[in-house]
Amino acid sequence: MSLSNVAEVSPRPTAEPFRLRRTFAIISHPDAGKTTLTERLLAAAGAIQQAGAVRGKAGTRSTRSDWMEMEQQRGISITSSVMTFDYDGLTLNLLDTPGHSDFSEDTYRTLTAVDAAIMVIDAAKGIESQTLKLFEVCRLRDIPIITFINKIDREGQSPLDLIDEIQGKLALDLTPVLWPIGQGVDFGGYIDLVEKRVLNPQGKTIAEYDQLEDLLDNEELIDNPVFMTALETLEMAQAMLPEFDLKTFHEGHLSPVLFGSALKGISVAELLRTLGDWGPEPRPQPALPAPIPPSDKKVTGFVFKVQANMDANHRDRIAFVRLCSGKFERGMRLKNVRSGKDMAVSNPMFFFGNNRELAEEAVAGDIVGIPNHGTLSVGDTLTEGANINVTGIPNFAPEIIRRVRLTDHMKTKQMSKALSDLAEEGVTQVFRRMVGADWIVGVVGQLQLEVLSARVAKEYGVPITFESLGFEVARWVESDDPDELKRFIAAQKVNMAEDRTGAPVFLAQNAWWADRAKQDWPKIRFLTTKERH
Ligand code: G4P
Repeated sequence: MSLSNVAEVSPRPTAEPFRLRRTFAIISHPDAGKTTLTERLLAAAGAIQQAGAVRGKAGTRSTRSDWMEMEQQRGISITSSVMTFDYDGLTLNLLDTPGHSDFSEDTYRTLTAVDAAIMVIDAAKGIESQTLKLFEVCRLRDIPIITFINKIDREGQSPLDLIDEIQGKLALDLTPVLWPIGQGVDFGGYIDLVEKRVLNPQGKTIAEYDQLEDLLDNEELIDNPVFMTALETLEMAQAMLPEFDLKTFHEGHLSPVLFGSALKGISVAELLRTLGDWGPEPRPQPALPAPIPPSDKKVTGFVFKVQANMDANHRDRIAFVRLCSGKFERGMRLKNVRSGKDMAVSNPMFFFGNNRELAEEAVAGDIVGIPNHGTLSVGDTLTEGANINVTGIPNFAPEIIRRVRLTDHMKTKQMSKALSDLAEEGVTQVFRRMVGADWIVGVVGQLQLEVLSARVAKEYGVPITFESLGFEVARWVESDDPDELKRFIAAQKVNMAEDRTGAPVFLAQNAWWADRAKQDWPKIRFLTTKERH
């Protein structure tokens, strides 16, 4: 039986710059170690030195991609940010995804802008709820996933049990790249199946092999019972797991798995290597009328996130654009397909956390921030003139619906500006009732409401509170029969609202009423998601 079931490293293509981009996110349940791993990856790639200003400002914690005050106070990551850095001839774009489950909407959209994801799993806890949710989003788009089983320096579940659990819960095939020698206090290094060597806990090579069986000739190793158990379980794993196959990985059906410790820096260099050597190049972007290949010569990109007031001193508004094709150059004129308007992009930015520099050039896979005053919204497609619309950027039906109450009535105008700005960012959804003039916000989690009121108060100077309206369910409504839709809206007028774009939304007291409406109006579609254009 062959024990070396991983592919050879392919040479790096050099012809087209976009082929050297790796645009990825890290997905995990809170506390699995995403922040620690991010810091370690940046350090291993030398990126923390590259961004000297970041390091100098506030010590190691400033490498965190979190920067909002509330995040610091509460220790959660609310906004998605971007870190662009070089590694081994490649440009890596790491998109941070908020870890808290209340921010899933923002996270979903960020995941529309990546080509790969690193899934961090706590070795003691296995698959947790948020990991599962995020994984499902990745699966919707068949995003290739590298699995990093973290905290191997602590006692945890055995590697075989973990693999079993992941395969079972996610229905995802795994194949080992790095295998641990013991765990917790017994941790004695790892076997690197790609470079065919055994390393000690400090990452120093202590043996090399051609076939794994060759290691049985190494007396020092075979005298170590922990090593022998590791070898045995590795053989069992390989017997039951498929061989690594680049194509299957790129199709999102097979995940290379590494065991390591972010805190101790174990396996982090190998994780970068896996991403660099096997991670996918920018993928064709789903769009209408046709997907956009990254090799297309014309520039296209889409806005996956808008962030207002990132820098309190500048009170700016940045649209984060993922480039899908072409070579973008500073000063270029691009058309916003939604509005039909052209704009000169004179100050595009690259980001490293909250530090930024002017982006002179960018290619498919790159993320550029475009400062603007409200012309760009999440979901907008930018082109050199073609009428192409990127698809798959969803709005989710809110799970909490509240009327906004203003305590200072002199500030109605500021409140409406604040709500529409934050709605464009995707922090909240805003609706207007068809009867009456109430402002209604819809969010997917309670914490999102707290963020909303904190930001409206801090950034716009408007104190607001929320009150219940008696609605728990919101559904966008559509029909192939426009007259039927009109009849439905007329019949349900008191339960109807419009979203920012004017699309009709049905509000129901609870799931039972929503179901009832569905039965009564079979020609109406009740949608839980809506694409943002
Ligand atoms: P998150 O961003 O996914 O929420 O996780 P984060 O990196 O903040 O890590 C959560 C906790 O797990 C932290 O401990 C961190 O030090 C610890 N941790 C991360 N990676 C490893 C690892 O490989 N091994 C071990 N043993 N621990 C790890 P904390 O006590 O909550 O915070 P801190 O005081 O250490 O910052």
